[in-house]
Amino acid sequence: MNKKLIAGNWKMNGSLAANDALVRALVAGLGVQSACDVAVAVPAPYLAQVQALVAGSPLALGAQDVSQHESGAYTGEVSAVMLREFGVRYVLVGHSERRQYHGETDVHVAVKTQRALATGITPIVCVGETLAEREAGQTEAVVRRQLAAVIHLNGHCISEVVVAYEPVWAIGTGKTASPEQAQQVHAVLRAQLAAASPRASTIRLLYGGSMNAANAAQLLAQPDIDGGLVGGASLKAADFQQIIAAAQ
Ligand code: PGA
Repeated sequence: MNKKLIAGNWKMNGSLAANDALVRALVAGLGVQSACDVAVAVPAPYLAQVQALVAGSPLALGAQDVSQHESGAYTGEVSAVMLREFGVRYVLVGHSERRQYHGETDVHVAVKTQRALATGITPIVCVGETLAEREAGQTEAVVRRQLAAVIHLNGHCISEVVVAYEPVWAIGTGKTASPEQAQQVHAVLRAQLAAASPRASTIRLLYGGSMNAANAAQLLAQPDIDGGLVGGASLKAADFQQIIAAAQ
């Protein structure tokens, strides 16, 4: 069984004061070591603040996006090397909100994954179908297509990635995939990874989409669910801590 990873995705939320209170509470709750890996993916302007707050604790720092470019004339972008300078260990890649609102394609996601890996940052590659795609019976085809692009470009080091299955219809909606629905897709992803890597069983597959204190334990009990990517519930220390406890 893989060591579980619980990653909080703050999205575009937070403030210096709120981050301080939240991260201090999380660090205090985790103690010096944790039975599962825990990370928070914070907005870029807060990387330095949160880097300082998590120093010496098991709480890992994450970012929410990375440029596909190395450096240069890309106004507004943040490079993998810059993230690395702030001690970033994980970066979300291809979150559905990036795909939906920023036109990120499967190829962009594959290149961003490559950038992160080349810089020693673990990419958390997000895949997931929309409600229309699920209703049309395309769930498997969609997530397989999204993951295939990433495998195609990163096959040699695909065992270094984390994959997050996040059904778009479950994100921020309060509708969670049932543990069975999630496990079904995770098994598909695991099989696809197995065809690409002898180490596929060690690749952590996270579930995301309205994971909360009440449903985390059941989801995390599924054989191919190795953790969670948690949005809304990661903004409240008590809720996030209950999810972490469910993973331990
Ligand atoms: P949610 O978000 O937990 O608020 O549904 C998850 C995500 O978008 O990563």
